[in-house]
Amino acid sequence: MLRRLHKDQPDSFAFTPANQAWAEAQITKYPEGRQASAIIPLLWRAQEQEGWLTRPAIEHISDMLGLAYIRGLEVASFYFMFQLQPVGSVAHIQICGTLSCMICGAEDLVAVCKEKIADKPHVLSADGKFSWEEVECLGACANAPMAQIGKDYYEDLTTAGLSQLLDDMAAGTVPTPGPQNGRYSCEPLSGLTSLKEYESGKTQYNASAQLASDIGDTIKPIDGSEVPLLAPWQGKTTAKPATKAKPATAKKASAPKPAAKKAADASGVTKQEAIAKSKAKPATKTSTAEDAASVSAGKKPSTLTAARETGADDLKMIKGVGPKMEKLLNSLGFFHFDQVAKWTDEEVAWVDQNLEGFKGRVSRDNWVAQANVLANGGDTEFASRVKKGSVY
Ligand code: FES
Repeated sequence: MLRRLHKDQPDSFAFTPANQAWAEAQITKYPEGRQASAIIPLLWRAQEQEGWLTRPAIEHISDMLGLAYIRGLEVASFYFMFQLQPVGSVAHIQICGTLSCMICGAEDLVAVCKEKIADKPHVLSADGKFSWEEVECLGACANAPMAQIGKDYYEDLTTAGLSQLLDDMAAGTVPTPGPQNGRYSCEPLSGLTSLKEYESGKTQYNASAQLASDIGDTIKPIDGSEVPLLAPWQGKTTAKPATKAKPATAKKASAPKPAAKKAADASGVTKQEAIAKSKAKPATKTSTAEDAASVSAGKKPSTLTAARETGADDLKMIKGVGPKMEKLLNSLGFFHFDQVAKWTDEEVAWVDQNLEGFKGRVSRDNWVAQANVLANGGDTEFASRVKKGSVY
């Protein structure tokens, strides 16, 4: 399946204030230098907000996480959960077409989609309400054939059953997810032959279907009514209710709470505190290095107005520094390995926040340790490769 960005893209993307706060809180779940791990929840939240994943959204999130855009695109284009083109306003139907489902009738389900939605996958129905695609095994093989619709699974489907599901959803009702043939879960159709003691006390539907039914958001996108968006690891909510009209520059989440108390440098500031401080006034989008330098976060390292007489070091020997980054560093007053080698954790936090478009790179690639080796005349593995011309 070819997965690429849709040809028509919006000009920009911004999280709603509530989603922006939620996204920033998600990032605090991960250890220092591993913030990129938040990419899947953030992409998912962007998709929930917009209905599909746009290029500006992928780039916005990549910027938030200090990732090259291609990294964000790699993740977005790899997983079927991410929709790279507009989907139906009511639901996007994902028919499993892998072995068990195929031999149990997936092709007939696809035929229903072709007839009732559109002849081709990823094409909106005439009324714009539905779209469909065939996907790989969704892990419900014992209940084949099945489809994922919105957040939930509809299993043991028939053509008539799927057709009715689509009609019901178009009419504004959401049938209960789970097996559609009377099975409770994935027991034999003729009933349980063992473990019968678990028959008593069970919920109306199996656990997954019961939860889906209780939550009731199978095909409901995020619309702000989910507030408060909990960030329990911070012991608080992340945001006030979303006001959809105002995008991402509004109020940010409270500064994340440091996760560890151990002092990281002579000033007694922990790494987490330095990062937390750096995020207390974050990232309204700035367009130049000068603007970026005005962001007050962490502690600004001492800088030079120009390289020393011996000439600037080739900062591209540091893994994570390319030509564009080197220019940005020079514009901020950094020209030499020994400058970088002396940065404290608080200073790293300041630089990390002021590398517009590359936030978080300093800690992600541990520039200080690299610069320390280079400043002392040594070579890192990366610098050796640069010198050999094997880094492009
Ligand atoms: S083959 Fe369809 S869910 Fe596994």
